[in-house]
Amino acid sequence: ALISLRQLLDHAAENRYGVPAFNVNNLEQMRAIMEAADETDSPVIVQASAGARKYAGAPFLRHLILAAIEEFPHIPVVMHQDHGTSPAICQRSIQLGFSSVMMDGSLKEDGKTPSSYEYNVEVTRRTVEMAHACGVSVEGELGCLGSLETGEAGEEDGVGAAGKLSQDQLLTDPDEAAEFVQATHVDALAIACGTSHGAYKFTRPPTGDILAIDRIREIHKRIPNTHLVMHGSSSVPQDWLKVINDNGGEIPETYGVPVEQIQEGIRHGVRKVNIDTDLRLASTGAIRRFMQENKSEFDPRKYLTVATRAMKDICLQRYQAFETAGNASKI
Ligand code: G3H
Ligand code: 13P
Ligand code: NA
Ligand code: ZN
Repeated sequence: ALISLRQLLDHAAENRYGVPAFNVNNLEQMRAIMEAADETDSPVIVQASAGARKYAGAPFLRHLILAAIEEFPHIPVVMHQDHGTSPAICQRSIQLGFSSVMMDGSLKEDGKTPSSYEYNVEVTRRTVEMAHACGVSVEGELGCLGSLETGEAGEEDGVGAAGKLSQDQLLTDPDEAAEFVQATHVDALAIACGTSHGAYKFTRPPTGDILAIDRIREIHKRIPNTHLVMHGSSSVPQDWLKVINDNGGEIPETYGVPVEQIQEGIRHGVRKVNIDTDLRLASTGAIRRFMQENKSEFDPRKYLTVATRAMKDICLQRYQAFETAGNASKI
């Protein structure tokens, strides 16, 4: 069944677990996410970016998610719009049937330039007013996502600030977070706590606290009823990087957020954990290896099946690690 983000994350908070939010663009990703959820009795958050809408087209994306709900009626599914850059874009998604939208007012409408706090409050407040009237949840964002190691915002198109960020911009301020929530009434808040989008988060194997756990804890204390969201939460599996590079790929050395660090974040209030890159890496690795090992094969279903299997394994691992597993039937 389709449920709102608020409904799901309230349950997650009461029971102290986290929920991975996987980006979805196509059938194979959707199947991987749903089959893994079905096997582990996990509730689902699927999110579509502007890029996903451009790739698949809004009606296909909408019906892909509706098909998932039809095939797996016992799994609660949140249909979430990732990184909306204006109230108008969020309105469009609400119209399409999304049960949750992200209004990312931390950046201007270009999705690149950091905006003012006042601008962020204004666009987010307007979106909440509209969404709540329709029973739709809203995620806001405060702060600039970027690696605490490199100061870089990451490389995704349209969702990262351009240029180097200062340490100050890289961590959401707890007082400002409290003020922001009071002014906007968002259901969930994406915070900057040391992660960044894409595959190139850290240049060295992360040691110690790669996440600003103290900051997460402080923010959670100030806004206990607003669910914290961690973007840029891919772990960048080294085994899949090796498969890619062993089969003709050329991906430079890079590291993501270790699963144990995410678990620590969940213990301190993180509820929604955004993951896109890990499924991209797993499917690319599986396809590259298949192509290398099966040079006369040309049925796309063959290599897409191994890609689905690889993505599903990542989903299974995250549902277990975040303790999402076992909760679908309890909601
Ligand atoms: O936060 C961004 C997600 O990784 C989506 O990326 O805009 O390329 O679809 P995309
Ligand atoms: P990753 O690039 O780490 O997978 O993050 C995805 C994300 O935050 C989508 O909003
Ligand atoms: Na931001
Ligand atoms: Zn994001």
